Amino acid sequence: MELLGKRIVLGVTGGIAAYKAAELVRLLIKQGAEVQVAMTEGATHFVTTTTFQALSGKSVFTDQWDARMPNAMAHIDLSRQADLILVAPATADFMARVAQGLADDLLATMVLARDCPLLLAPAMNRQMWESPATQRNVTQLAADGVQILGPASGEQACGEVGAGRMLEPAEILEAVLAFFTPKVLAGKQVLITAGPTFEAIDPVRGITNLSSGRMGYAVARAAQQAGAKVVLVSGPVCFSAPHGVDRINVRSALDMHAAVMARAAAADIFIGVAAVADYRVANRAEHKLKKDTGGVPPIELIENPDILAEVARLKDGPFCVGFAAESQNLDAYAQAKRRKKNIPLIAGNLIQDGFGGDDNRLVLFDDAGAHPLNPAPKSVLARQLVEHIATLTGKN
Ligand code: C5P
Repeated sequence: MELLGKRIVLGVTGGIAAYKAAELVRLLIKQGAEVQVAMTEGATHFVTTTTFQALSGKSVFTDQWDARMPNAMAHIDLSRQADLILVAPATADFMARVAQGLADDLLATMVLARDCPLLLAPAMNRQMWESPATQRNVTQLAADGVQILGPASGEQACGEVGAGRMLEPAEILEAVLAFFTPKVLAGKQVLITAGPTFEAIDPVRGITNLSSGRMGYAVARAAQQAGAKVVLVSGPVCFSAPHGVDRINVRSALDMHAAVMARAAAADIFIGVAAVADYRVANRAEHKLKKDTGGVPPIELIENPDILAEVARLKDGPFCVGFAAESQNLDAYAQAKRRKKNIPLIAGNLIQDGFGGDDNRLVLFDDAGAHPLNPAPKSVLARQLVEHIATLTGKN
């Protein structure tokens, strides 16, 4: 429910991607937003008002002269109540009209009369997108403070391939969530590790840790939405990178170490969420080990570098944050780890509280002591952690 209490006017204009706006309404409502849909006449040729009314639970407005508004000022009343106007899909024609300041239908009038921010998710044929007129309008809209989401590239409804596809509803939702997130890490470079590492025994076998990567990915997403430039060094997990996050894929602890050390000096904040294997195999076999060659093959282990401790030792290095997953004595073990690695902040959790799941219970430990957070989805905890980091780094 990350959009609870937010009022969003969703404008839908006349493009084939209008059918995807139905899914977008559902996603926004699921996050707790109140959604008022306003459609252009063109949009109603693609999807009916009934669809949006059923999904949003509100009457849909299409007409400037709608008799439902007693003062005949639908454009003022509807836009005044909004925290945000989002237009998805936004056609080339609609963008041209907004860029020109035209008020020739209800939606364009609402946009012109608004006192809240405007996000547009363009959707059009690639040539329409690339045309000098559209590009001029995009430049003008950006200069007027309008945020343009996308468009994406790929196969288009007309059969051509290129830039102009509307972002997927889930991506637009992410952009809306980012829009409402306070930019507490604006201008900061944040380096994050996530997921497990995999230490090869032979070409098909290895030693790894149980780690879904969910918490690290949630932290990367929260930092990005808080305005940071995020690089995520990730072990093998089954998620795609959060929108706007630069991901570097690694497998072993040594790969992760190299990827982090190459970037640590440039980072303002380093957050080690990865479950790094403590040991790697010294006698890694080049070929697959055979079990019928007699005896159990000996596996020699050597210690991996402690990436977090090494970053923390850098002179003028980033503000370092660690994670401690413990099965007991959380306070004592987490605080001891924080001191041993010489880091200002560590987030501790009990393995039984959050392993692999969507929810967790975190306690933040810093010089001031323990700060227990309420049990919550990892996305919410990640945002609270980011806010705590912003508070501590703001003091430095
Ligand atoms: O020492 P321990 O593994 O319990 O500490 C956990 C913290 O240290 C996590 O933040 C983890 O990402 C980091 N770490 C690391 N390199 C290692 C081991 C742990 O960066 N080799």
